[in-house]
Amino acid sequence: MPTSTSLSERLESIGQSKLAAYINGVQGDGGDILKQQIQSFDLDQLDGYISTYGTGYQPDSPNEEINPAPYFALDDASWDRAMYSTHGEGLIAANKVACFTVAGGQGSRLGYDGPKGCYPTSCVSGKSLFEMFAQTIYANERKYNASIPWYIMTSPLNHEQTIKFFEDHNHFGLDPKNIQFFEQGVMPSFDAQTGDLLLSDPAHLATNPDGHGGAYKALHVSGALDNMLERGIEHLCYFQVDNPNAKIIDPVFIGLHAYSPESSGEFSSKMVAKSSWDEKVGVFCRVGEDISVVEYSDLPEELAKMTNERDQLMFNAGSIAIHIISTAFIQKIATDPEYALPFHRAVKKVSHFDPATGLMVQPDEPNAIKLERFVFDAIALADRSIILETDRIEEFAPVKNATGTDSIVTSKQIQSQRAANWLAASGVDIPTNPDGSVNATIELSPLTALSPEDLKSAQLPESIEPGASIQL
Ligand code: UD1
Repeated sequence: MPTSTSLSERLESIGQSKLAAYINGVQGDGGDILKQQIQSFDLDQLDGYISTYGTGYQPDSPNEEINPAPYFALDDASWDRAMYSTHGEGLIAANKVACFTVAGGQGSRLGYDGPKGCYPTSCVSGKSLFEMFAQTIYANERKYNASIPWYIMTSPLNHEQTIKFFEDHNHFGLDPKNIQFFEQGVMPSFDAQTGDLLLSDPAHLATNPDGHGGAYKALHVSGALDNMLERGIEHLCYFQVDNPNAKIIDPVFIGLHAYSPESSGEFSSKMVAKSSWDEKVGVFCRVGEDISVVEYSDLPEELAKMTNERDQLMFNAGSIAIHIISTAFIQKIATDPEYALPFHRAVKKVSHFDPATGLMVQPDEPNAIKLERFVFDAIALADRSIILETDRIEEFAPVKNATGTDSIVTSKQIQSQRAANWLAASGVDIPTNPDGSVNATIELSPLTALSPEDLKSAQLPESIEPGASIQL
């Protein structure tokens, strides 16, 4: 390890004089931990980020035209679903497909103290999100006689707890050799006015997880990408931990991604029609020449409200954060500097230790910049990226908030509604409310059915009682 003097000189040279003075004086284990942590970052690169996104920040003036992105619509019969499904099934059965979950987030927005994936989410039995996904993977492995490895990105906030949860539950029946956990990276937070790196306590820099876009680097440095390549995995089915209805292995989507002439087989996405102009989802747009996700907070209101001649939202392609990314493309993004993704900056309140006074500072106003990368910013770097429309009830039941929109209550209603739709397609009499929604709570295990077709040969009740709560 370099001496304190040489490290403090390095910090001086990039304008971090307060931190430089502090590490010169700090003694003992705490000092060593801090020095090691500082050296784990590329300081020149960090200095560049601080001036780009902090002290010298110039907001982008959007000068490129924004248009709606094209997509494969649900009601478009001009392409051959059955053919792409067969192609997709072929790739699954040939063990070329794996699952990838971004699960760096905590359940704090839900009022839950733990990794979000451990949150009890299924309608009746209260299975965790992780268990629901594990059973879906298990059922797909059984259906296609395939091995489907599962890569799970955690963050330093929840890595150990997540692994323990899987161990405590015997990996939900999956082969532990087929599950790989790896931690995403972090970025130091810095003072929004001065660019000074902040300390969370006397021995640590204040940091934040580097966003789900940190996945590319984390897949590479953790060895997960090498593991995939050794196994011959070509395509990763990506989904967020917060969506229990995600159809995580979808042969049609896999086939379209890999074989459609309109796709370069690098990065594909799913969308649903937005429920309202102000729904909090990113929107697939064409910005200049590139397909991009424009976050809800960044889409100008006048565009978000624009409608076409059929009175539908023009910018209606809501991202449900389900993608397929090829391993070859991940390797390019992770290792080629020309493919480096931009950061997004957020100004947040960050409590910090002031080395000058030795006291903690609790800011009243946002005081610090946090930097994150977004996984979908890679879409613009793909040669040809496609978007497939899907049905909202079928694939989007997010659990994000404690109450109201996208809460556990709305998620369970959507899960139940999907189960009811599948059962109704097999002739089961479903009780309904006056608005047509299901008047029962129905949990359909992935081990029972992965699609409505799987129910055709199942033993089913003739009808369900109004208000019943049942598991099948
Ligand atoms: C996200 C998408 C939005 C999309 C919506 C669909 C972003 C910025 N926006 O919004 O376009 O329409 O989902 O539900 O993603 N995560 C990590 N590490 C991180 C940050 C996040 O693993 O450093 C994971 C979380 O565990 C979660 C997911 O990424 O599974 C989404 O993150 P979140 O910040 O909750 O995004 P949303 O606002 O829900």
